[in-house]
Amino acid sequence: MIDLLLLLGTDFASGTKLARQLGVSRVAVWKRIRRLREMGYPVEVHPRRGYRFVEGAPAPRVLAERLRRPVGTFRYLGMSTSTQDELRVWAAQGAPSGAVLVAEGQTAGRGRRGRRWQSSLGKGLYCSVLLRELPVARLPLLGLAAGVALAEATGIGRLKWPNDILGPDGAKIGGVLMEAQTNGGEALVVVLGLGVNLEPADLPDGGAALSRYRRVNRADLLGVFLRRLEHWLARLDRPSEVLAVWGERDVTLGREVRVSTRQGVVDGRAVRITADGTFLVRRMSGETTGIATGDVELVGSMNTI
Ligand code: BTN
Repeated sequence: MIDLLLLLGTDFASGTKLARQLGVSRVAVWKRIRRLREMGYPVEVHPRRGYRFVEGAPAPRVLAERLRRPVGTFRYLGMSTSTQDELRVWAAQGAPSGAVLVAEGQTAGRGRRGRRWQSSLGKGLYCSVLLRELPVARLPLLGLAAGVALAEATGIGRLKWPNDILGPDGAKIGGVLMEAQTNGGEALVVVLGLGVNLEPADLPDGGAALSRYRRVNRADLLGVFLRRLEHWLARLDRPSEVLAVWGERDVTLGREVRVSTRQGVVDGRAVRITADGTFLVRRMSGETTGIATGDVELVGSMNTI
């Protein structure tokens, strides 16, 4: 099954050719294709031309060609549990740093702070990227850099600390979830998850799909994201560069915000984000509070972003 997944791209391949490549019969190929479709993979079947993934499917072969990387550094799943969990399993089996796992859907997709991430089959981009051996101190900036890369890849993305990607009207279209296994000051394994709503399907309040603003090809979106992520990874030792680009897309800086944290609510004006990823808010009293984790809401003006 895995071999067939690596062979199929978005150009038709005939049953005869696939059978030869896999060393099995054409009937066996057809059975495997049927099984892939049952698993949630969007495989098109044409009586004469053969089989292919639908346009935009983030199949390993398609991504490997675009990014000029070995096909084995990508894994493509149909309906999965959570790409975060599936990538963690692969990491334990030795997946290399930079490995990418993408799925057509998730039954247990999760967002920040234990929230559920709606992941209907074929309606979004659900992907996790593995990074190894990074200083723990760099993780907040890495989260911001991933947000910048994703906003850039969407073309229209605006940003809200710490990891929300918004459309031009302020609706949330995607987000980044970072999970890490650390040992002292080192993050041995970092799993960077990105979720983008591409088509409307059971979206939460305040959510929107990227299709509201532009047409999307999933493989293009993921390819551009991965290239931009690579660009920003090489600049993690220059926080001011990441923060400057973040600032250009940020919707909260200089505006009235309400931040919900585990310790309570902080009201004030968003001042800036520091090199270690802290969100600074100036309260009415004039005191500035630094927030490491929380959810930011713009006060009263969501529609005028
Ligand atoms: C957020 O809360 O805004 C972050 C959402 C991140 C969702 C993605 S979808 C792919 C990956 N797998 C998951 O279970 N979650 C992340």
